[in-house]
Amino acid sequence: MASIPGLPYVIVLVFISSTALGKPDNTSSCTLEMFGNSSNAFWACRTELALQRNWFPDPIAGLFSYQTWNGFDGFWQNGAVLESVVNFMHYANNTRHLSIIQNSFRYLDDLLLAYAPEPSYDDMAWFGLSYARIYEIFGDQNFLSSAKDVFDHNWMRGWDSSGNCTGGMWFDYTKGSKQTITNVQTLQLGARLYRLTGFKDKDLLKKVNKQWQYIVQNQLVDPHTYLVSDGVDYNNKTKNCTANKVFGPTYNSGVLIGGLVELYRINNQSSYLSLAHKLANATIANSTKGGIFREYCEDSGGCDDDALMYKGIFVRNLRYLMELSDNSTRAHYNLWIQNNVKAVLSRSRCEPLVEKCNITYKDGPPVHNVTGPLFGTTWAGPYNQSAPMQETCVLDLFTSSIPPGVRCVGQGCTYDPPNPPPIHLTCSSHPCPPGEDCCNVGKSFTCCDITQKCKDGICT
Ligand SMILES: *[C@@H]1O[C@H](CO)[C@@H](O)[C@H](O)[C@H]1NC(C)=O
Ligand SMILES: *[C@@H]1O[C@H](CO)[C@@H](O)[C@H](O)[C@H]1NC(C)=O
Ligand SMILES: *[C@@H]1O[C@H](CO)[C@@H](O)[C@H](O)[C@H]1NC(C)=O
Ligand SMILES: *[C@@H]1O[C@H](CO)[C@@H](O)[C@H](O)[C@H]1NC(C)=O
Ligand SMILES: *[C@@H]1O[C@H](CO)[C@@H](O)[C@H](O)[C@H]1NC(C)=O
Ligand SMILES: *[C@@H]1O[C@H](CO)[C@@H](O)[C@H](O)[C@H]1NC(C)=O
Ligand SMILES: *[C@@H]1O[C@H](CO)[C@@H](O)[C@H](O)[C@H]1NC(C)=O
Ligand SMILES: *[C@@H]1O[C@H](CO)[C@@H](O)[C@H](O)[C@H]1NC(C)=O
Ligand SMILES: *[C@@H]1O[C@H](CO)[C@@H](O)[C@H](O)[C@H]1NC(C)=O
Ligand SMILES: *[C@@H]1O[C@H](CO)[C@@H](O)[C@H](O)[C@H]1NC(C)=O
Ligand SMILES: *[C@@H]1O[C@H](CO)[C@@H](O)[C@H](O)[C@H]1NC(C)=O
Ligand SMILES: *[C@@H]1O[C@H](CO)[C@@H](O)[C@H](O)[C@H]1NC(C)=O
Repeated sequence: MASIPGLPYVIVLVFISSTALGKPDNTSSCTLEMFGNSSNAFWACRTELALQRNWFPDPIAGLFSYQTWNGFDGFWQNGAVLESVVNFMHYANNTRHLSIIQNSFRYLDDLLLAYAPEPSYDDMAWFGLSYARIYEIFGDQNFLSSAKDVFDHNWMRGWDSSGNCTGGMWFDYTKGSKQTITNVQTLQLGARLYRLTGFKDKDLLKKVNKQWQYIVQNQLVDPHTYLVSDGVDYNNKTKNCTANKVFGPTYNSGVLIGGLVELYRINNQSSYLSLAHKLANATIANSTKGGIFREYCEDSGGCDDDALMYKGIFVRNLRYLMELSDNSTRAHYNLWIQNNVKAVLSRSRCEPLVEKCNITYKDGPPVHNVTGPLFGTTWAGPYNQSAPMQETCVLDLFTSSIPPGVRCVGQGCTYDPPNPPPIHLTCSSHPCPPGEDCCNVGKSFTCCDITQKCKDGICT
């Protein structure tokens, strides 16, 4: 989520690596042959390369000064995209851009510093989910313990133990609202960690169950339509919550599906999977037009930079459900996914590259030449413009469409260019987005809220 209105975000500059730029080489290319002719893996590979070339070169290098890092609107997407990258490695049997993943490691305290005064709990949980997944695939214990630290931090600071609404995670430290996304992330993250730590941590399991009870008691899943409410309304008189029946964002249902998959993996109760299938069907039916997936805000042309990521997160979690589905159910989802793949390739792609591709950089041109394919917001087309949120969404779509058993063969499977170092920025580098004043704070800087100005080093 974007910054809290009225509060500036402090950016602390840290140098992470100082490797030089590598020479261009042809192992960067993605070919059909290297993936045994799987076109889905091929397109995922090309999309990931374009994402890296155009907007990073390293998504995480800019984590403490995200304006240097060329394109997402905020801190949270830095975390969420890591799961897209590592899933592509996993499903397409390669280690391309491995150092992006390795260098993404941060301790809890460093993550907290990245987005002052304190990241919202959902922001943190994207890192937790990705780190847990990185551990699952690469076995690096550091990622597991940082993921657990994120969970513990969120729980300690964010869980409502007042007895209201049978608990629930607050959205952020202001305790102003309870959004569904935070609660479904906490469910999935807690359950995933419980599984990855060997089904032993009974205290963690208790928290997972409490989180699930909150979701059930407050009817976040509509009992008639199986759509997922975006949050709850608090009744000050009864001290109860009521699901707010706002059914827009598709990632709520996506992350809950992933959470139900994890609950099933804990106790083998098929009721969790049946519910997950109902959620999947309902969201697909509700958010598909002419066979193609569509985020609620696309109709009004009003998707913000957060919402541009949602469809990919839904599809990523649908893939987790498909992994546990029988062949015919899997084929049912796969048909829908493949329709979307076809649509996005033929109707929402800008390639070959031309001026009118209208690629968006938040912070100046990239280190590399612009690289295609570029994808727009609406998968059914027409192509509008290109930015890393849309590109990540499509990477998730292609990755989720890769059939089981794809093998990667050849030098290209380990392509991993060194990353250029992050650039040290101060206010004189004009790092802030248009309209936001900049304040130097020691070696770091702050971008003031759009309503504020910098006076004597303070946004007021
Ligand atoms: C890279 O170039 C070499 C020599 O031209 C060729 O044998 C190899 O197949 C190429 N690799 C890729 C991934 O294109
Ligand atoms: C991929 O397609 C090429 C060209 O059609 C063919 O020569 C090759 O054997 C195929 N590879 C695999 C693994 O099927
Ligand atoms: C690719 O698949 C082979 C065969 O299953 C496996 O041994 C290897 O570890 C996989 N590599 C990656 C990077 O997933
Ligand atoms: C329950 O939540 C409301 C709204 O946030 C708050 O005003 C109230 O103090 C809470 N009740 C308790 C017992 O903490
Ligand atoms: C909730 O009720 C308490 C006392 O009953 C009151 O002090 C508080 O202002 C109310 N909060 C809201 C948001 O209405
Ligand atoms: C609050 O909701 C719970 C669960 O639905 C219900 O059992 C309880 O009676 C409600 N309390 C009030 C005061 O409405
Ligand atoms: C769930 O099933 C797996 C494999 O069938 C088994 O190893 C595990 O013990 C079961 N777990 C529970 C809680 O029943
Ligand atoms: C989901 O939709 C498909 C196709 O309409 C149907 O076959 C399947 O039974 C549905 N699954 C659930 C759990 O509703
Ligand atoms: C999806 O759900 C929303 C909210 O209930 C509703 O307004 C909309 O008409 C539904 N759309 C479709 C295509 O079912
Ligand atoms: C399901 O599909 C897989 C791979 O396509 C195949 O190996 C397996 O035999 C199928 N299972 C059944 C029960 O049809
Ligand atoms: C390019 O995209 C931006 C949004 O990033 C938009 O404001 C602008 O109007 C677009 N330009 C053209 C020529 O379409
Ligand atoms: C960009 O493309 C030009 C022309 O093809 C080439 O000369 C140049 O080396 C490329 N730059 C980079 C950084 O790849």
